Amino acid sequence: MNRRELVQKIVLGGAVLFVMPTVISSCTKDSTIDPVILNTPGTKIDIDLSDPANASLNTAGGSVIVKSIIVVYTGTNYIALSSICTHEGSTVGYNLAAGNFICPNHGSVFSVGGSVVTGPAAKPLESYQISKSGNILTITV
Ligand code: FES
Repeated sequence: MNRRELVQKIVLGGAVLFVMPTVISSCTKDSTIDPVILNTPGTKIDIDLSDPANASLNTAGGSVIVKSIIVVYTGTNYIALSSICTHEGSTVGYNLAAGNFICPNHGSVFSVGGSVVTGPAAKPLESYQISKSGNILTITV
């Protein structure tokens, strides 16, 4: 190996070390999390029920996740809870038959109000106010 090859390897190695932490960090990030919104009480998030992307909210048991908030239509009303399990951060899902939220990772169960029914989670899911006007759902963070 001559001097030029050695310098090229050192420069390339440095570039890899510089870029890798950024790549690894972006792979582990949940792109739905928006800490600015979730840490700004009073922020409103609108969901248009006529938007095809939100069509599942017109069917009992349907849900969408917006900004780490799971919005569910129970068949009679809408519920908005944090979608992030308080145990280790997995995404919870709604179980229409049981009428509760289940974490697929370790099996924690949460009520429609967000309280823990079955652990290992020890803290409730954050609950958000949600209202409907025409085709628009509004979540107040
Ligand atoms: S991450 Fe949800 S129960 Fe463990």
